Amino acid sequence: MIRLFVNVDHVATVREARKTIEPSPMKAALLAEKAGVQGITIHLREDRRHIQDDDVRLIQKKISTKLNLEMAPAREMVDLALAIQPHQVSLVPERRQEITTEGGLDVCSQEKSLSKIREEIQSKGILFSLFIDPDLAQVDASQRIRADSIEINTGKYTELVSPDEIEMELERIRKSAKRGAEHGLKIFAGHGLNYENVQAIAAIPEIEELNIGHFIVGQAIYCGMENAVTAMIRSIEIGRTQRRN
Ligand code: PXP
Repeated sequence: MIRLFVNVDHVATVREARKTIEPSPMKAALLAEKAGVQGITIHLREDRRHIQDDDVRLIQKKISTKLNLEMAPAREMVDLALAIQPHQVSLVPERRQEITTEGGLDVCSQEKSLSKIREEIQSKGILFSLFIDPDLAQVDASQRIRADSIEINTGKYTELVSPDEIEMELERIRKSAKRGAEHGLKIFAGHGLNYENVQAIAAIPEIEELNIGHFIVGQAIYCGMENAVTAMIRSIEIGRTQRRN
């Protein structure tokens, strides 16, 4: 079974549009749990555009599944993670002007500094994950710095239109997943996934965990959080049955 972690950042985006107290990402997280997810993901951005520090503490306290904290490899964030001690920290690159995370971390160019963060995070028993593009050099670098897992960025795959290009990108994701698993890394994936495009990703045998946010929160506007999550779990299961090995 693939574990689904639902990212509730965009519940906070709606709340922050009015700087008020509703809707609550914590309540959305509890509804996602009721529908059967294995964990909750939140991204505490340096500009605090959606999730706030108090959300991280409250969600960590209230949920009964696992918290995956996405964050930039910045001192302030590392200190916060060490204090809060989520189940897992996922490092992502961050640029203030971007609308969403635009690409994976360049692990190759910062092996030393990322290794130091990895040591600090793992010393508290927190799992250490790296969000990277489907690129073998980045997979190899992630293994060298002894990450527990990699989350393969599916963003480009989800944006392509031409079937040939989609297949080429899927092949890059498959090869990266295979290489990572050979290195002993746990393999996760996410970004831009919806009920349809998730299926080919769920069919990749090495993938054990998915992080999905924007689409689920958007669907929840129409049908409620529990129904949106249930439909996503069904799509993942359909994809899983299409495994090729
Ligand atoms: N994984 C990472 C590292 C992300 O930054 C995001 C977006 O916050 C996601 C997964 C989820 O992407 P989406 O919101 O498009 O489902």
